[in-house]
Amino acid sequence: MASDSAGSVQPCVLEHVTKKFKVRSRDRRERRTEFVAVDDVSFTIEPGAAVALVGASGSGKSTIATMITGAQRPTSGSINYGEIAVHSLRSGGLRRYHQDVQMVFQDPYGALNPLHTVAYTLQRPCRNLLGLSAHEADKRVQELLEQVGLAPATQFAPKLPHQLSGGQRQRVVIARALASNPGLIVADEPVSMLDVSLRAGVLRLLAELRESRGLSLLYITHDLLSARVVTDQILVLNKGRVVESGVTKDVLQNPTDEYTVQLLNAIPHPFAAAS
Ligand SMILES: Nc1ncnc2c1ncn2[C@@H]1O[C@H](COP(=O)(O)OP(=O)(O)OP(=O)(O)O)[C@@H](O)[C@H]1O
Ligand SMILES: [Mg+2]
Repeated sequence: MASDSAGSVQPCVLEHVTKKFKVRSRDRRERRTEFVAVDDVSFTIEPGAAVALVGASGSGKSTIATMITGAQRPTSGSINYGEIAVHSLRSGGLRRYHQDVQMVFQDPYGALNPLHTVAYTLQRPCRNLLGLSAHEADKRVQELLEQVGLAPATQFAPKLPHQLSGGQRQRVVIARALASNPGLIVADEPVSMLDVSLRAGVLRLLAELRESRGLSLLYITHDLLSARVVTDQILVLNKGRVVESGVTKDVLQNPTDEYTVQLLNAIPHPFAAAS
C-alpha cells in the first residue's frame, strides 16, 4: 500500500443512533434522570466524502464523534464502518479499528504529551498500529511531517510540543492521525483553539490531505462558513437531532430549517477563506 494513500476507506453508517446520559435530577425525590444527548440520528459518510457536522454548543456533535471512534457506545442504534460493528467493539477490535478511524481534537495543547518529541509522538502509531520497524517508522515520520507542511522534517522531529506554535502543534496532531493510514478522520473543531490567522491554513491542509489520500472526513464545527471550505455535505444538529442535511453550499445558500437560518444569522464575521 502506498504510504500516502488512505487505508481501508469504507462507508460509515449511523442508523437510529441515540445516546442517553444519566444525570442527577434537580428534584431530590428522583435521584437520576436521563438526558438525551443524541436522538435517533441516522446518516452515512460515503467513502472519500467530506461531511460537516454543525450545531450550537451542546447539540451533540462531540458525542457523535466519540461514538464513531468507539470511545463511547450508543444507548441504542448502530454504527458500522464497512463490515465493522463499531457499537459493539471491545478492546482488541477497537485497537484494529483505530487503524482505520482516527480523531483530531480541538485542543492541540492537550492532545500532545509535553514530554514527548514530535518524532516519538509520530513513531508510536507507526510502530504500534502499523507494526513498522524503528528504521521504517523514522522514514515514515519524515514523510508525515512533510505531508503536513512541517518541512524540513529534521528541524521539527526533535522538538517538544512547547517549542512549536499552536498551528504547528495541530499539524503534528494531524500527522499523528494520518500515521496509521486511516480511511476516516473525525476532526472535532480542529481549528477553534487556533489563532484566526492560522485557521485557514490548517483547514486547507485537511481538505488537501483528504483529496490527495482519498480518505473520508467528518468535520465538526460551530462555524457554518468554514464548513464550506472543507466539506461537500453538511448535517445540522439541534438538540441531538439532525434538522437539515444536504450539499454544503446549497444548505448554506438556501437553508430550509429555521434553526440553520438562526445559525447563519448568528455569524458575526464571515470566515475570510470561505469566499
Ligand atoms: N458524559 C456525559 N454525561 C452527561 N452529559 C453529557 C456527557 N457528555 C455530554 N453530555 C451532554 O450532552 C450534550 C451534548 O454534548 P456534546 O459534547 O456532544 O455537545 P457539542 O455539540 O459537542 O458541544 P460543543 O460545541 O460545546 O463542543 C450536552 O448537553 C452535554 O452536557
Ligand atoms: Mg464538542
